[in-house]
Amino acid sequence: MSDVVQFSKRGSIGIITIDSPPVNALGHAVRQGIADGIAAGTADDDVKAIVLHCAGRTFIAGADITEFGKPFKEPGLDAVMNAMEQSTKPVIAAIHGTALGGGLETAMACHYRCAVATAKCGQPEVNLGLVPGAGGTQRLPRLVGLEMGAEMNAGGAPISATVAKDHGLVDEIIEGDLLDGAVAYAERLVAEGAPLRRVRDIEYPKDIPADLFDNLRKKYAKIKRGFEAPQRNIDLVEASTKLPFDEGMKKEQEVFFECMMSVQSAAQRHLFFAERQASKIPDVPKDTPTKDIKSVMVLGAGTMGGGIAMNFANAGIPVKILDTTQELVDKGMSIVEKNYANTVKKGRLSQEKMDQRMGLISSTANFEDVGSVDMVIEAVFEEMDIKKDVFGKLDKFCRPDAIMATNTSTLDVDEIAAVTSRPEQVIGTHFFSPANVMRLLEIVRGAKTSKEVIATTFKVAKQIRKVGVLSGVCDGFIGNRMIHGYSREAVFLVEEGALPQQVDAALYNFGMAMGPLAMGDLAGLDVSWRIRKRQAATRDKNLRYSPIADKICEMDRYGQKTGGGWYDYKPGDRTPHPNAEVEKLILEESKSLGISRRDISDEEIIERTIYALVNEGAKILEEGIALRASDIDMIYISGYGFPIHRGGPMFYADCVGLENVYKRVCEFHEEHGAFWKPAPLLEQLAKEGKTFNKLG
Ligand code: 3HC
Ligand code: NAI
Repeated sequence: MSDVVQFSKRGSIGIITIDSPPVNALGHAVRQGIADGIAAGTADDDVKAIVLHCAGRTFIAGADITEFGKPFKEPGLDAVMNAMEQSTKPVIAAIHGTALGGGLETAMACHYRCAVATAKCGQPEVNLGLVPGAGGTQRLPRLVGLEMGAEMNAGGAPISATVAKDHGLVDEIIEGDLLDGAVAYAERLVAEGAPLRRVRDIEYPKDIPADLFDNLRKKYAKIKRGFEAPQRNIDLVEASTKLPFDEGMKKEQEVFFECMMSVQSAAQRHLFFAERQASKIPDVPKDTPTKDIKSVMVLGAGTMGGGIAMNFANAGIPVKILDTTQELVDKGMSIVEKNYANTVKKGRLSQEKMDQRMGLISSTANFEDVGSVDMVIEAVFEEMDIKKDVFGKLDKFCRPDAIMATNTSTLDVDEIAAVTSRPEQVIGTHFFSPANVMRLLEIVRGAKTSKEVIATTFKVAKQIRKVGVLSGVCDGFIGNRMIHGYSREAVFLVEEGALPQQVDAALYNFGMAMGPLAMGDLAGLDVSWRIRKRQAATRDKNLRYSPIADKICEMDRYGQKTGGGWYDYKPGDRTPHPNAEVEKLILEESKSLGISRRDISDEEIIERTIYALVNEGAKILEEGIALRASDIDMIYISGYGFPIHRGGPMFYADCVGLENVYKRVCEFHEEHGAFWKPAPLLEQLAKEGKTFNKLG
């Protein structure tokens, strides 16, 4: 047997045990081991049934993604599954943890499936831009029904073992020890003379609703806009109703390999590893001691404070909210309560859970209470003097080992830390609005932040289900520093000839969650206006400046909150409608700036805005503000609505080819001036024929 798969016996039951940490993925050695185990069990006359189970934290979590795109080694998964399905002795999968992708497919090639109640089953291949490659689209709908099978393949979400039992995917729920229970179940099947049930033999009902698949295609075209794989999954489930089983399997394999070669799948696989890579900090090793954060205090009960507090309550961690007066605290608490109540109303949270979470949030107006918590997150007004005052007080009242974090979005974390006697305990935790919804957490490492504080903050990010990404200290950190050029180009394009709706449509069709001008309306145009006014005196007058956004604010149009900004909004409706006055203003401004408006292609809109992100991203990488290009990609995917199927701005640039991106950046530099000075790293990689990310 192989190193990672063992065959053993308990009485008349053969046991194949896969032990291939971390997740028992179906790499070559595991495939070979299962095939050998089936052969051993079949050849042994004393063995009457075979149990397939896994050691460690989970059943098989899928094919080994790291093998994708590499030379293939026999036996393939299909051959292993055939051996299982054609076995003359019942093969029983014993599932714990997660049976995902190829893992669930392996279980479905068994004759019976048992599982512990906490197990989960799913076909998440679609999240990697793929379809299953070993029968997921052909076997799963035969077991759970066409609609559920198609949804599980196209949506990728797993179901619990108990739901799986209700729908025929799991045959038996095991209480207590899984292996003991699975062996007992196998013995019972043998004693009962249970048949060799093969999923391939299950027939579909005759009355398949005519519009089932078209309706699903429409649904997924909407909720997974721009993604190819959900549609291909639905097509394959439909094919399973029309083709004989073996032909359906062949078709699935063909589509699997087509998807594997697609840019979308490469992008999604890149992000799978990027997410896991983000928490690996080269000089903060895995075994860095961390502190258990058992209590938190959030300073400031405003827009961000309330949302931040909800994250902790959602994760079961007690949290206190503080503001300057009891009235402000109460106001903040009532917004939190309203937010939870809305979720309950939508049926996405039970009243009981809401009560539990509210029970974990308490409030105070007494600053000295910071002395009772493990971590403080400051989310007060964005004014350096106020932040310094607050951190001075934190230094006085916090416990020596408490983490003191700031949610500042623009201020210098080192300057804030410098007012304390323990800058090593200070870190930036930059949440994104709405803080209880957005997955991104930029973790800002100050010059003196200790490794323990960094490691603990990453641990906290995981506990509250955020994607933590490390940033160095600079104006805007990674995400907002990059977005600056993107928004700037969007406005310049408007000045040069495009209308807001054209700029936004081009980027929406590219896959962005919303266009940059609509995004400005959502965030509030007054926020950046105030910053621009503050910076006016020191602004470099040689650099191009568009006054259009300022003039829109001067019309008291601050965006959605005032019923209009770049666009108009009807009360209670976030749909943007073009505004004639704004369009008139735009045309007048172009004229007064001496710009003769021209037709601008969608391609130019995308290049100008996205390459602005890429060029700044390259500078950020070069300066060491970001550790790696994939961190920048994660930030844009989880915090800025960048299309997942494009893998993030840096991966997108890699796919376009850095020599092409560099060429356009040089042309823009020539045409539009200093903002477009090519990043030296972009120039270097382009000339060397290299990429930001390791591809393939
Ligand atoms: N192949 C290779 N490596 C994998 C893997 C896989 N399928 N799944 C997880 N890993 C690795 C991770 O990269 C990570 O490595 P690292 O420690 O070096 O960073 C390690 O296993 C642990 O993973 P997580 O940090 O994600 O651990 P969690 O406990 O948080 O989650 C999990 C476990 C739910 C299994 C999660 O890892 C997961 O969702 N994995 C992917 C599942 C998947 O997509 N399966 C389908 C694969 S495609 C397929 O099967 C095609 C088939 O149809 C032929
Ligand atoms: P806000 O104005 O909604 O809330 C700030 C709260 O802090 C107010 O309730 C105020 O009373 C309170 N406060 C002021 N001084 C205080 C003090 N000395 N002690 C205790 N409480 C005090 O502001 P918002 O939007 O919540 O922003 C807070 C911080 O989060 C800022 O640093 C901001 O830059 C940052 N941020 C904001 C984002 C956003 O989209 N609003 C996104 C990311 C970061």
